[in-house]
Amino acid sequence: MNAAITATAKYLPDGILSNLDLERMLDTNDEWIRTRTGISERRILRDPEKATSYICGEVARQLLEKRGMTADELDLIIVATMTPDMLFPSTACLVQDIIGARNAWAFDLNAACSGFLFALNTASRFIESGAHKKVMVIGADKMSSVIDYTDRSTAILFGDGGGGVILEPAAEEGYGILDARMYSDGTNGKDHLLMKGGGSRHPATHKTVDERLHYIYQDGRMVFKSAVTSMANVAVEIMERNGLTAENVSWLVPHQANQRIISATAERMGISSEKFISNVGRYGNTTAGTIPICLAELDEENKLHPGSNLVLCSFGAGYTWGGMYVKWQ
Ligand code: UT7
Repeated sequence: MNAAITATAKYLPDGILSNLDLERMLDTNDEWIRTRTGISERRILRDPEKATSYICGEVARQLLEKRGMTADELDLIIVATMTPDMLFPSTACLVQDIIGARNAWAFDLNAACSGFLFALNTASRFIESGAHKKVMVIGADKMSSVIDYTDRSTAILFGDGGGGVILEPAAEEGYGILDARMYSDGTNGKDHLLMKGGGSRHPATHKTVDERLHYIYQDGRMVFKSAVTSMANVAVEIMERNGLTAENVSWLVPHQANQRIISATAERMGISSEKFISNVGRYGNTTAGTIPICLAELDEENKLHPGSNLVLCSFGAGYTWGGMYVKWQ
């Protein structure tokens, strides 16, 4: 049986960092940011005591409530993140503790901006195989913890937030996650979008801090080129493999990195602007959070109906990218 999404939820912190705020901090301006990225503001989790697990906990509680489930019913929790609270234990174990999911096993998965899709694809296999009945998949990042707010090339792009879903066996055949194509290209991706410090290659030292190695580095232009091509290619591949057309796709749910990448993907698919969701203007790039936040917004606005055809797609560090076809249950 296919895996179907049976609940969605999102959490965005209240703190707002606007383009005007950034103008005061950096040599940038609202007009440049909006025309190059589509972003006007992002959310920031300002409380230093709160980390990614807090965002996940808020998402997890809502998911259980919306589905009318207890935490004990969960078989597995997967958290997609590149900003875990700590290198270990996994943030998924912290979420298990927060909600008291005593019967679940839990692990993190890191595929940066493609993390949620990679995690959703992984989780769906546990349902399809019959191993599990109830899986929670969360994508969340506290990007403000790894952003250098003196670097205008990255500081403007990212925000904090997350979302998630519950996956269960579809009630009827032909619904749920019907296809997925996932890709990685470490050869071309590994040098263009990365955080050098904090891992086993450059453990934290005074030197790594002085050299600002604990922040994101991105060659934006290189990543942009690959993102446009790869996200459009995988979205079209998903359409072709599944007999989807511009007419019968209900929603394109793309990773939210840059409005220009989203629009280019929609254009290649031949779909019009009323069929893709874009909230990058309000939240910036929340990395593993973007796709589940989009799903939760569509759900909250009653824009998902039984039989709606969704194409999800993402591109991120690694490089990693992927596409998925979901027929909404
Ligand atoms: O989700 C993970 C994947 N990440 C992405 O998908 C991000 C992909 N990349 C992008 O979205 C874009 O490349 C950026 C938005 C990051 C940058 O846009 P761009 O059109 O590629 O600009 P650029 O990096 O080529 O820079 C153009 C100019 C440069 O000046 P010169 O060298 O032409 O004089 C930059 O120094 O804009 C300058 N610039 C800025 N100016 C004002 C770069 N950042 C800023 C800024 N404000 N914040």
